[in-house]
Amino acid sequence: MKISVIGCGYLGAVHAACMAKLGHEVVGIDTDAAKIEALADGRPPFFEPGLPELLSEGVASGRLRFSADIAEAAGARVHFLCVGTPQKHGEFAADLRYVDAAFTDLRQHVNAGDLVVGKSTVPVGTAERLAAAYEGTDATLVWNPEFLREGFAVKDTLHPDRLVYGVPEGAAGEQAAELLDEVYARPMSEGTPRIITDYATAQLVKVAANSFLATKISFINAMAELCEATGADVTALADAIGHDDRIGRRFLNAGLGFGGGCLPKDIRAFMARAGELGVDQALSFLREVDAINMRRRVRMVDLAREVCGGSIVGRKVAVLGAAFKPNSDDVRDSPALNVAEQMNLQGAYVTVTDPEAVENARRRFPDLKYTESFEDAVEDAELILLLTEWKEYVELDPTALSDKVAQRRILDGRNVLDPARWRAAGWTYRALGRP
Ligand code: UGA
Repeated sequence: MKISVIGCGYLGAVHAACMAKLGHEVVGIDTDAAKIEALADGRPPFFEPGLPELLSEGVASGRLRFSADIAEAAGARVHFLCVGTPQKHGEFAADLRYVDAAFTDLRQHVNAGDLVVGKSTVPVGTAERLAAAYEGTDATLVWNPEFLREGFAVKDTLHPDRLVYGVPEGAAGEQAAELLDEVYARPMSEGTPRIITDYATAQLVKVAANSFLATKISFINAMAELCEATGADVTALADAIGHDDRIGRRFLNAGLGFGGGCLPKDIRAFMARAGELGVDQALSFLREVDAINMRRRVRMVDLAREVCGGSIVGRKVAVLGAAFKPNSDDVRDSPALNVAEQMNLQGAYVTVTDPEAVENARRRFPDLKYTESFEDAVEDAELILLLTEWKEYVELDPTALSDKVAQRRILDGRNVLDPARWRAAGWTYRALGRP
């Protein structure tokens, strides 16, 4: 199938490469010429395991190419729109300017019978508005939300856990679903569940899923606050409640909370949209989810002050992790960087290190001190903060590390270290929600 992918950011670059992997003939389109050049060269402008290989393979096969000219979308049967929907400046709502521009630009290049597939995360009602704008083109609009996780993006796209198609009523909708089934023939043959629904439901599925995940994380972090007040252990609590299948253990890791380019902005945009629809009360709990999440960052700084005997001014602090989660170089709304920046502002001498995200972090918070070298970061540190659970940090050896630091103090912001092991090696170990 001939496919175009408009917008080659995280979602689009991965989607284009994966569609070529599934055997389709794909053109990826983006307005950023430098990005197009890098992708065509097998160099994605972000860290995603497996993607460079997939891009190179696709380009070498002749089935994948990139262009900065949207006119090249003409001739494709299916057009995926994958542009970003960031949070508006100074508001909770999503900024739809890229979505609107992409749909407007593409409109001149679609042919009768084409499928225009929206994948971006949008406020419910957007698909209906865009479908109306495409009337007269004889192309059909489908809303097909994406659920990929950064770090697992290739696997999640090639083997999704579900497919959701929001289609118009009647024959046009049925034909659209059939065509999309052809695009996804391989995952469908693996038994991937496929849910066909209306536009509104498809758009809501995406934000409902992210809201649920955010709620799960904030729930366990609220329990961590209770644990801190009572001397209980939130990790054991999560293990115990997680054995109940109805609850499940996944996404119950307490710690510094959620960040990234999706969960925080999606719950806020969802609240903003609910307000517009006159049902803001239905989502008022998401305010609390957001507040619990942000409180964890403040608590982390307080804990640092506590273990340093009441003040962090002039203390040498090593921050391990800058990315919002491991296996990513994404620093958008990174809890780790938020804590590092707060501590820096409050007078600590902070050095941040990360296996992949130093460059992006430096661009976002240029006043912080960075090093690519773990050794340099921890040298003579009076306090170590583990804030992103990269494998190499989780596997640190407390004995080997003892000689390098000035003071054996560690704060485990992700509850991934064994407290007994660190304490046995002479360390002061503290964590969020653990005694
Ligand atoms: C999230 C969703 O998981 C994807 O399903 C969705 O497609 C994506 O957003 C999106 O909307 O594009 P992602 O942002 O890549 O994916 O990251 P997650 O793995 O969900 O992690 C989000 C944050 O929650 C991270 O900061 C992570 O450290 C934190 N987290 C996660 C916890 O604090 N505790 C947990 O138990 C799990």
